[in-house]
Amino acid sequence: MKKVMFGMIASSALLLAACGGAEEEVATPEAEAPAATETAEAAAANAEIVAIIEARQDNLKEMGASMRAISESMRSGSPDATLISEKADIIAGHAATMGDWFPAGSGPEAGVETEALPTIWENPEGFAEAVSNFQTAAVAFQAAAASGDMTATGGALRSLGGTCGACHDDFRVDDD
Ligand code: HEC
Repeated sequence: MKKVMFGMIASSALLLAACGGAEEEVATPEAEAPAATETAEAAAANAEIVAIIEARQDNLKEMGASMRAISESMRSGSPDATLISEKADIIAGHAATMGDWFPAGSGPEAGVETEALPTIWENPEGFAEAVSNFQTAAVAFQAAAASGDMTATGGALRSLGGTCGACHDDFRVDDD
């Protein structure tokens, strides 16, 4: 089995060489080549992680702005049901994908400014539960907002805000 695998790897290497890609022209001494490849791979992986962190921060900022707009409208004395419902849709949309925003390696060790605490990866069940509670509250708030019933909307908004705060308490840097 081992022999067969080696044969396959060797022949695919030959195939690559036969194709005459850029690899052939790089005149790096053999001892340095693997290190250079590893560095390039690490840089590519890190660029991907940085993009993931920046995308989630953009989404979180949009959630924060949506919550602010909703609260202001609710307090204004004449809540704008259409605006509140639109913002509720944005929050529920983000809630649905939030479980994918924190892959392993996207914590402080990525070398990017992030408020994500290592507890996210140390306590994955607790974090998944916080995401799940938030998703449930976001869907309930979306339904209340769509109904136009401002009393129900106000109650659902308080529950929703509670799930934001609960997750921040345990999993986000406390910068108050
Ligand atoms: C399951 C956990 C969780 C939930 C739920 C959650 N957040 Fe956060 N939030 C975080 C984490 C972790 C960060 C730090 C992310 C980072 O810096 O990479 C954060 C950061 C933020 C930021 C700062 C973004 C920035 O980079 O400037 C805002 C604003 C925010 N959250 C708003 C909200 C609002 C509003 C809600 C609820 C509607 C919410 N969050 C729900 C975990 C959560």
